[in-house]
Amino acid sequence: MLGPQHNRNAFESGAEPLDRYLRIQAGQDARKNIAAPFVLVLSDGAVAGYYTLSSTAVNVGEWPAETVRKLPRYPLIPATLLGRLAVDRRQQGRGYGRYLLADALHRSLRSEIASYAVIVDAKDESACRFYERESFLPFPDQPMKLFRPMADIEELFR
Ligand SMILES: CC(C)(COP(=O)(O)OP(=O)(O)OC[C@H]1O[C@@H](n2cnc3c(N)ncnc32)[C@H](O)[C@@H]1OP(=O)(O)O)[C@@H](O)C(=O)NCCC(=O)NCCS
Repeated sequence: MLGPQHNRNAFESGAEPLDRYLRIQAGQDARKNIAAPFVLVLSDGAVAGYYTLSSTAVNVGEWPAETVRKLPRYPLIPATLLGRLAVDRRQQGRGYGRYLLADALHRSLRSEIASYAVIVDAKDESACRFYERESFLPFPDQPMKLFRPMADIEELFR
């Protein structure tokens, strides 16, 4: 979990809004129980990457028809939001992104709060491809919003 001991000023992922979020907003969101930021810290103390988790809900109409058929008729389906995920530019391509994603999925699975799926909002095509390679599926008509069912995540860690 992100704490005051973590030096986040040098963090640079190549996506300025994600860097600014870590520097300015993440601590406040954590204190106010809006998002839980988790950081990957290297042995020299530098933040190599981070992600955030929050609770969310997705309108039943947004899910694929074959998913909805299997669900009870509630207007909102509970889910876990992987709000942000970023790796420092100097550390990209070393497996940290995949490691952080796996850590986020495992943490989501361990929660005692029911959640149908983990949701991500990809910031661009490249991020979308990263998540698709990790078995995330796009929502119909919202190609940048993707999900991975918790039942599938459970299988992954079985
Ligand atoms: C996307 C990001 C988190 C990936 O982190 P990373 O540490 O470089 O990724 P990894 O080294 O763990 O790579 C995991 C796999 O994804 C692939 N991958 C990494 N970045 C990718 C991208 N932008 N597009 C497609 N595939 C990508 C890698 O090739 C690797 O696959 P391989 O093992 O088969 O070669 C990182 O590039 C980043 O922070 N980018 C800027 C912010 C961003 O786009 N965040 C996404 C959330 S909106």
